[in-house]
Amino acid sequence: MDRRNNPYAPGAGLQPPELAGRDRLIEDASTDMDRLLDHRPVKGMMLLGLRGVGKTVVLNRLWRTAADKGIHTTKVEAPEGGALPQLLAPELRRILHALDLQVTATHRIREAAAALRNFVSVFKVKIGEVGLGIEPTPGYADTGQLEQDLPDLVEAVAVAAEERKSAICLFIDERS
Ligand SMILES: Nc1ncnc2c1ncn2[C@@H]1O[C@H](COP(=O)(O)OP(=O)(O)OP(=O)(O)O)[C@@H](O)[C@H]1O
Ligand SMILES: [Mg+2]
Repeated sequence: MDRRNNPYAPGAGLQPPELAGRDRLIEDASTDMDRLLDHRPVKGMMLLGLRGVGKTVVLNRLWRTAADKGIHTTKVEAPEGGALPQLLAPELRRILHALDLQVTATHRIREAAAALRNFVSVFKVKIGEVGLGIEPTPGYADTGQLEQDLPDLVEAVAVAAEERKSAICLFIDERS
């Protein structure tokens, strides 16, 4: 067969020519994204399955769907037992800067930036300057308990995105 039009191209996370049997899942997730943009409650989604079953391709597809809807997204690969603060903080910073570039920083963006600044300080994460002319405001996302601080930080960034009539979706894959 001519390799130019051979549809067989396996590879981790590579979009197959036809993403067979996932229409319902993608439709459900897409509906959730619309609900999110409409300020309705949505639960997170976890894709579970054996090796090679297609978790990464679905994740990549949903990532693109979210971006097409104007949602601010990030996609990271988390290693086993990994360092989520180091992985997510730079991504949340990128989202905050993207939000800020649209108009001048609002109250919510400043709050989220303050939370990010506290978070990177307490978890000793190395990222670029948080910037946006933010004064340190202790007492937010700075307890040192990841279970508490990360949701606080993510929520602060989500609220900042909401103020810009957007939302955020975090896509976290397992590093293989
Ligand atoms: N629904 C599908 N239809 C057609 N091909 C698919 C489908 N799902 C996955 N594939 C193909 O199977 C291969 C493996 O998919 P993928 O890398 O997403 O698996 P995975 O579940 O993330 O595996 P791992 O557990 O190793 O990370 C890829 O080449 C992908 O294109
Ligand atoms: Mg995978």
